[in-house]
Amino acid sequence: MTETVKIIFVQKGEKKEFQVPVGTSVLEAAHNNDIDLEGACEGSLACSTCHVVVDKEFYDKLESPSEDEEDMLDLAFGLTPTSRLGCQIIMTKELDGLTLIVPDETRNVSI
Ligand code: FES
Repeated sequence: MTETVKIIFVQKGEKKEFQVPVGTSVLEAAHNNDIDLEGACEGSLACSTCHVVVDKEFYDKLESPSEDEEDMLDLAFGLTPTSRLGCQIIMTKELDGLTLIVPDETRNVSI
């Protein structure tokens, strides 16, 4: 049986909890559960529409962002110190309970 972990999305002040299989990206987890996170480039680091704000408690548990991710993040609307791109965060057992705020607005770099 695939192991699952808890992920919590907070969107427009509403908290939604899901169990997702280990190895799922945050972007996939959002899409599989009808969370409105765009992800225009489907995880190829060519947009910033999968921008999420990570709960501080979990931010340090994540692998550091790659340079490419940092570059894309710089273009994200409403960047915060704990911002990440959702397609680059892969769920692991350590991230059980990961809490993410989905910003109301995103900006695609191509606009
Ligand atoms: S989906 Fe485009 S960078 Fe994440």
